[in-house]
Amino acid sequence: MTRTNNIFPTDKILQRNAKENLLSQKGVCIWFTGLSGSGKTTIATELEKKLHEKKLLTQILDGDNIRAGINNNLGFSEQDRLENIRRIAEITKLFVNCGVITICCFVSPTEEIRSIARSIIGEKDFVEVFVNTPLEICEARDVKGLYAKARKGEIKDFTGINAPFEIPQHAAIELKNRSIEESVKQIIEKIR
Ligand code: ADX
Repeated sequence: MTRTNNIFPTDKILQRNAKENLLSQKGVCIWFTGLSGSGKTTIATELEKKLHEKKLLTQILDGDNIRAGINNNLGFSEQDRLENIRRIAEITKLFVNCGVITICCFVSPTEEIRSIARSIIGEKDFVEVFVNTPLEICEARDVKGLYAKARKGEIKDFTGINAPFEIPQHAAIELKNRSIEESVKQIIEKIR
């Protein structure tokens, strides 16, 4: 037997359903995809508030804070974005296996990237939500001033400007012209 097998007796550790029973809820991942400034984090924050009011345990994972911490060695090349999402998906899987409703807000711009997340987390635990806010609106908002910088050529590989955003083909929910309240309601109905 290898040392690795010795130190982690997977047959003896508490199973997911024991943790879900403790929390009286089921683990799931709600995966927001969409352009920077599309509203992913805003909707996620409101969704988390609503779920918390219903006494459900949640955790938000968000592009800006994950990239400031565990993924602070990654940039925005295609390869780095893949690694960003791969690590996030592995972390998400741990939360979901603890019974936590895990809300992920990442641009996750390509079908390949989203399918990696889906396959790591598992199809049955993965609810993809496409925040379909047009580029013109995201750019007009430009909350972080990044679109202006990208237009001036100061940021390369900026999603929507000089890096691709592929329209999601497998989203369970598409949010287009929806208020925050309507968006949250639609998601809660889906995961209920
Ligand atoms: S992802 O493409 O790898 O999924 P992620 O969601 O982690 O991206 O990070 C996106 C956030 O990083 C954006 O909301 C924006 O604030 C910032 N950012 C900085 N540079 C870029 C860039 N080149 N492309 C997209 N977002 C960027």
